[in-house]
Amino acid sequence: MALLEILEFPDPRLRTVAKPVANVDGRIARLTDAMLETMYAAPGIGLAASQVNVHKRIIVIDVSEEKDSPLVLINPTIRANEGEVETNEGCLSVPGFYEPVVRAEAITVEAVDREGSAFELDADGMLAVCIQHEMDHLEGKLFVDYLSNTKRQLIRKKLVKQQKQRA
Ligand code: NI
Repeated sequence: MALLEILEFPDPRLRTVAKPVANVDGRIARLTDAMLETMYAAPGIGLAASQVNVHKRIIVIDVSEEKDSPLVLINPTIRANEGEVETNEGCLSVPGFYEPVVRAEAITVEAVDREGSAFELDADGMLAVCIQHEMDHLEGKLFVDYLSNTKRQLIRKKLVKQQKQRA
């Protein structure tokens, strides 16, 4: 399976609000497989469809040490959240930068899986943070949006320079 291209900040396509998946069919299932493969290859612990320029509400995650616990969340909704935790976050769309972001410490999320079945998941720790980070992507939001304007502009400048050098 071919790896998908990951969009990088400040690509304006990352600001697109994703649409719900109406029907989890074979095409969507194959997309989640390609997203997981792309995420593992990067390597990363989470990827939202928005990052591969597919503006559907789909995220994939694997926070396990062994990289053997893929999680697919389609049309995820947070039903409850509790506490606050600050974590140094990174993002495949903002390569090379890690900055502290405050999010809920524990969440209950409802979603549909790769087979089209609804499920509910209680998450905390890294998994909870990762789900919230990936769900932000579906709203066109990036972790750099939580940083100061100065810091965000600095990251933007450095990334644009890298992207130009690569082109
Ligand atoms: Ni990200």
